[in-house]
Amino acid sequence: MYFNDDKIIGICGAAWGDEGKGKFTDVFADEAHIIARAQGGCNAGHTVIVGDMKLKLHQVPSGIIYPDKLNVIGNGVVLDPRVLVENEIKNLTAQGISTDNLKISGDAHIIMPWHRIIDRAREWRLAKNKIGTTARGIGPAYADKANRCGIRMNDLYDKKVLTEKIRVIAKEKEALLFGAWKLPVETFAEWMNMTDQLDGLWLKDGKFNVQTIADSYSDWTAKLKNYVTDTKKLINSAIKKNKKILLEGAQGLLLDIDHGTYPFVTSSNCSAGGFATGLGIPPQSIDRIYNILSAYTTRVGAGPFPTELGSEEEISSENGNNKMSFDQSAQLAKTAQDDYTVGKVIRHIAGEFGTTTGRPRRTGWFDAVACSLAAKINGPDVIITKLDVLDVMPKIKICTAYEYTGPETWYNGKTIKSGDKFTAFPTDARILKYCRAAEFIEFEGWNSNITSAEIYDELPTLAKKYLAGIEETTGCNIKLVSVGPKRSQTIIK
Ligand code: IMP
Repeated sequence: MYFNDDKIIGICGAAWGDEGKGKFTDVFADEAHIIARAQGGCNAGHTVIVGDMKLKLHQVPSGIIYPDKLNVIGNGVVLDPRVLVENEIKNLTAQGISTDNLKISGDAHIIMPWHRIIDRAREWRLAKNKIGTTARGIGPAYADKANRCGIRMNDLYDKKVLTEKIRVIAKEKEALLFGAWKLPVETFAEWMNMTDQLDGLWLKDGKFNVQTIADSYSDWTAKLKNYVTDTKKLINSAIKKNKKILLEGAQGLLLDIDHGTYPFVTSSNCSAGGFATGLGIPPQSIDRIYNILSAYTTRVGAGPFPTELGSEEEISSENGNNKMSFDQSAQLAKTAQDDYTVGKVIRHIAGEFGTTTGRPRRTGWFDAVACSLAAKINGPDVIITKLDVLDVMPKIKICTAYEYTGPETWYNGKTIKSGDKFTAFPTDARILKYCRAAEFIEFEGWNSNITSAEIYDELPTLAKKYLAGIEETTGCNIKLVSVGPKRSQTIIK
């Protein structure tokens, strides 16, 4: 029903991630024969709701809940075998879900213990300018891949060769950590325990313990042996057989290493282009890309966020343990005077707390300047999620222009100065840092519960006006609208 005549559909977050991709991955997975991940790794956190069951997945594609569908982890993913074996596969098995239908590319690069440590160490060195990574080792693993010194899934099956590789690489990483970066050995030990929960097993004399690392990785990979295959061959032969394939994106366009708000980005291509390279399929075989956009904007981690309601500092006082109920939030929405409180209402109504880290997400108004990038890079088709979260808001805004407030500088071939307006998104964090949301279109809130609307015409006129505003200001075509977390709460426009 949702695939229509398409055979290969890709789902991309169109902002900074957490737009609600999980639900739609699930909606489309229902009809697909294959569900494939092409990039990212366990920095992603997808919550899939099936009946009363809530599943948290990081690397395993969301189609795993269906025994008759293949789930592919492609060559473009950086895989953490520990998380896969000891967390994801273990939890799925405990819930009675088989993982026999999982396939892993032998060419996928592997997250090693030093990747997590280097991830933390870079953030520690950057201090105030840190990226706010998920500390899962993603950036350092992709850096080694690009630097041609990574370890791939296929490399893990010859213990002798693996041990030698680990010995050589560990020495290099120690020279970086303890030599150039002067990381205190105690901090290293603390992080090793924190990130790997192995009670120091991977440490020896304050260094990486080559033998136990090789043993641990060999144990996990032995458990993964039956899953590893040539996934390129598998998917391309499925394409020939006209199978329906869902390409499951992770993160979001504004976190893309090329098109996002560099350097506050992740280290992979989470735009549509990443699907072809991350799975080894012809780009022209992809029939449609859906941009997933939430009806307001969120961001986790550091970095510029022009339509942010409140500031990172204000939000850091909140934590996932003090959540407001829906009624408390709705009450607060009526009296909210300042931006931070409006943002807090959105955060608590929608439960915007990270799946992977539990961090409160930063929230803001819909940003048409940023979101119009999606139509240019991924194509115009959009799914709007979480529209119901705005049910209690008296006023709703869309930002249509930024004002630059920084020092005179040069960007993309021209001089820019304070007071200049941006209606096209500047993807350079150096510029974006000085951009303030300056022009808005304000919409009246519809002030009613839309969670049981089943067809487009059942939406209040004011909600339809808001959706039309999103289309006009971004150049996107809205195809589907989500009015609640359940699969059935999906409206075709
Ligand atoms: P990394 O991917 O862990 O290197 O983190 C880089 C940036 O991407 C940080 O701002 C993270 O918060 C953000 N990020 C990574 N994965 C996700 C995700 O799945 N959702 C939202 N933000 C993410």
